[in-house]
Amino acid sequence: MAHAISYPPLDVPKPVADGVWIVDAAPLHAGGLPLPLRMTVLRLSGGELLLHSPIPYTPGLRRALERLGRIGHLVAPSIGHWMFLRAWQAACPDAITWAVPGLKDRGQVRRSGVRIDAELGDRVPRAWGEAIASVLVAGPVFKEVALFHRPSRTLLLTDLVISLEADLLPLPARALARLLGIVAPDGKAPLHLRLLLRLNRPATAAAARRLVALAPDRVIFAHGHWFDRDATGELRRSLAWLIGPEVRRGTPARRPASTLPQTSTAAASLALVAAIAALAYAGRRR
Ligand SMILES: [Fe+2]
Repeated sequence: MAHAISYPPLDVPKPVADGVWIVDAAPLHAGGLPLPLRMTVLRLSGGELLLHSPIPYTPGLRRALERLGRIGHLVAPSIGHWMFLRAWQAACPDAITWAVPGLKDRGQVRRSGVRIDAELGDRVPRAWGEAIASVLVAGPVFKEVALFHRPSRTLLLTDLVISLEADLLPLPARALARLLGIVAPDGKAPLHLRLLLRLNRPATAAAARRLVALAPDRVIFAHGHWFDRDATGELRRSLAWLIGPEVRRGTPARRPASTLPQTSTAAASLALVAAIAALAYAGRRR
């Protein structure tokens, strides 16, 4: 029954656009919350595959992927998505592992034996060609590099948007997911990540605006029902907590309440809550 919240068939590549596949996996359990898990696979112009946020390794999945192309790049795109890299590195020793800035310095990553070959930021490696753009969304503790596959207009995220389907969740988990703000049709980054990312405004808001400006046709993320329709509109809605609501033509421009200056007391409270949430977030992934 735990798999009821996943998106079968599991552990097999499923095409969603030319050169783009998703692979859904059995759910993780984090802090009492079952989380469906997804990897996205891109085929680069040279024919190599890029595995975005690899899911647990199986020989069968590797064989299925190798029928699509050689696995050349493994990507840990956010602070929370690196746990399954080691087995992929062992199976694909020639693949280059790319990671969000700062991941290699984390104690649990160093202790795990995962090898990080290079960091990603706002510029993609030359080996990926012109087909992919990246946007770094960086708060304290939490960082994520979003990838945009230009030929298919597909945006790849991990935790910046989570959109779980309430009727697939057990009741207690449903309440927790609503508290975290990660339930469709109003899915977004979970509460603790929003607190962290708000601490680095306006840089995170500028990054979020760049994501919306990419105008993706689809937004694929690691947990939940990805945006396969009205993707840009859904993305804008899911980031409104950071960039403010859309200003429609003819509507008097109002400064979003969320960008009003905060008092030092409020900021200090926010920092405290964020620090606690960050510790809990990090602890869940040990
Ligand atoms: Fe995640």
